[in-house]
Amino acid sequence: MGRKKVIEVLNLTKKFGDFTAVDNVRFDVYEGEIFGFLGPNGAGKTTTINMLITLLKPTSGEAYVAGYNVVKEPYRVRRMIGVVFQDPTIDRYLTGYENMYIHGLIYGLPREKIRNRIDELLKFVDLYEFRDKPVKTYSGGMIRRLEIARSLLHIPKILFLDEPTLGLDPQTRAKIWEYIERLRYEHNVTIFMTTHYMDEAEKLCDRIAIIDHGRIIALDTPENLIKMVGDEVVYVRIDGQPIDIDKLRGINSYIKDVEIRSNQIIFSVSNSSKAIPTILEHLVGLGVDVQEVKYHKPDMGDVFLKLTGRDLRDDEGSWKDMVRTVLRRWR
Ligand SMILES: Nc1ncnc2c1ncn2[C@@H]1O[C@H](COP(=O)(O)OP(=O)(O)O)[C@@H](O)[C@H]1O
Ligand SMILES: [Mg+2]
Repeated sequence: MGRKKVIEVLNLTKKFGDFTAVDNVRFDVYEGEIFGFLGPNGAGKTTTINMLITLLKPTSGEAYVAGYNVVKEPYRVRRMIGVVFQDPTIDRYLTGYENMYIHGLIYGLPREKIRNRIDELLKFVDLYEFRDKPVKTYSGGMIRRLEIARSLLHIPKILFLDEPTLGLDPQTRAKIWEYIERLRYEHNVTIFMTTHYMDEAEKLCDRIAIIDHGRIIALDTPENLIKMVGDEVVYVRIDGQPIDIDKLRGINSYIKDVEIRSNQIIFSVSNSSKAIPTILEHLVGLGVDVQEVKYHKPDMGDVFLKLTGRDLRDDEGSWKDMVRTVLRRWR
């Protein structure tokens, strides 16, 4: 079955001086997909988006969006896409309606059409009753919803969302997820989104590219990525006691894989209730001082840890995000 490619990226690279922010990245996005770029802060997600939306020139490589070359045909690309930027770009002194209206004028849409479509879209994101209020009275979640509505005004084929829920509270994030899912079905757009939230990528995306230090280190469906890790994961905290990994193999048949990462041993197991007692018995026998045992069904965080040896979770409370969150509330 030949699925139609709507984004095609061929060895795309972006350097800032000596620093390679996006390193030879290659992927395709198919029509109707929600495609996710998942990675920690500084991984190169925004830089990649900026090249695809024609705001940043690649150092090398090529990209096609809706069949158009992003370097040679930027105006054609722009007509086909909607963008929600990582940082809000709404004018807070204008009303929601006015922000939308100006966007429509910039895109050269007929006025009557703009008016009808604004109403329809504001209803879609549940902002219709707030349309005549200045945006400075909106919450962070409302601003995000307005930006999503605005990005749809000129009926894009492909929507780019850069960290759509960054800094929002869990309830508001869930609401935004709902809109993103409905967008695909009701507005028939292909979605390219970035996020550093694993749950978000796992929940929304049909396929996920995991990006780290400018490189795609894995690309597959969330199910397949998670399968890489095993059925369940058991973490045993040992706080860096020296231990020979060979002594941890073959403890019992429920253990599929074992790794040591700085302060913990990570077992991929098929049956945690059978595996854990024998693991503990075995470790005690080796004289290991077990500090803590945790187990859970694997998620994208375990995938990232397996691929990089680093915990994506550590990144979530970074100062950059905190500053962004504070700024968003402030605006
Ligand atoms: N204009 C720029 N000049 C120099 N370095 C940049 C510039 N833009 C981004 N970078 C660097 O490139 C890397 C990737 O940034 P970015 O694409 O914003 O990451 P992400 O969106 O994944 O958090 C970071 O190390 C960032 O500091
Ligand atoms: Mg970014």
